[in-house]
Amino acid sequence: MSDINISALIENRINNGILGQWYPVAKTVQVNSISPLGVEVLGEKLVLWRNEKGLVQCLKDSCPHRGAPLSHGIIHKDHISCRYHGIVVSGQGTIINVPAMKDCTLEGQKAVKAFEVREFYDAIFIYIPSAENPKAPPLKAPKEFISEDWSGILCTSVWQTNYRYALDNLADPMHGSFLHAESFTLGFGSKEDLMDVEKTENGFIARRTGQVDKNFDWVEFEIYNGTMFCFLDIPYPSAAGPGGSMRIVGFVTPINDSSCKVFFWRMRRVKGIQRESWRFLYRAELESKHWKVLEQDREILEAMSDNARENEKLYQHDIGVGNIRYTLYSQAKLNVDYDQNVENKA
Ligand code: FES
Ligand SMILES: [Fe+2]
Repeated sequence: MSDINISALIENRINNGILGQWYPVAKTVQVNSISPLGVEVLGEKLVLWRNEKGLVQCLKDSCPHRGAPLSHGIIHKDHISCRYHGIVVSGQGTIINVPAMKDCTLEGQKAVKAFEVREFYDAIFIYIPSAENPKAPPLKAPKEFISEDWSGILCTSVWQTNYRYALDNLADPMHGSFLHAESFTLGFGSKEDLMDVEKTENGFIARRTGQVDKNFDWVEFEIYNGTMFCFLDIPYPSAAGPGGSMRIVGFVTPINDSSCKVFFWRMRRVKGIQRESWRFLYRAELESKHWKVLEQDREILEAMSDNARENEKLYQHDIGVGNIRYTLYSQAKLNVDYDQNVENKA
């Protein structure tokens, strides 16, 4: 295949989302054993439900008979049945029963793709396999999730924009001083600065050079085989209670090529009674302020045209944006190169 075609495949892969990754798709409270939940990830429709033991099951949301969505079906403990003609499918994707026909040969067939699931820190993560990594690597948890010192509250939002713009936005601390200038916590510090990028063991930090911990001054991306997330600190005034800066741990999940879902854990370093008071203060006072900030991000990104990146003129501040784009490019290239190698050998 020509270099031009390979480039187009890589661009297409980036635009639709990287394969071979764990993605958060829902809050844990959204998945129960009463009604199935349909979600979309990288353009793939999936159904989720909890079995008898409370474990989350995940299948492609398509009945093996004639493709009706299983998310409209009925949960039977480990299994789910289709609303259309009643076929029963197990959590592993095997057809258990075809009630409309005795001894139907479909029974026993593994006919629906099943996905690996992890439930972690109030979110459900699904592994979207790649050809080179059909089995899920370990889901790498942010250190704040496994530390007793931190307490976090998950917020999610669907943004009608390609996920690449949401990642660009996170890799771009300079926007805090402008887009969020009127907010409770992001109006401080200088509006003029330079940026640099430091490579870390598992990713990179993009930071302002002229100030630290005055505003949204840096972001760190951690990139592992199968997991990618970022974190950043928002300095807090003492009126916002104990625990110092608020840390945001962020994942971005592509829904399809024109929408994404952001998962932001708002975290503070608080324990014991401080933990309880921060969670109370957050719910009572801070959450609405945070939503205003998040809505500013959503509104500006949704207002950008799908092809905004084709006409941009980047400058020094976009060094973090360049790094996250290069990361996606490298990941997509791995997906595409593997497919090409298989095709060439065939
Ligand atoms: S389409 Fe599901 S049972 Fe017919
Ligand atoms: Fe923002």
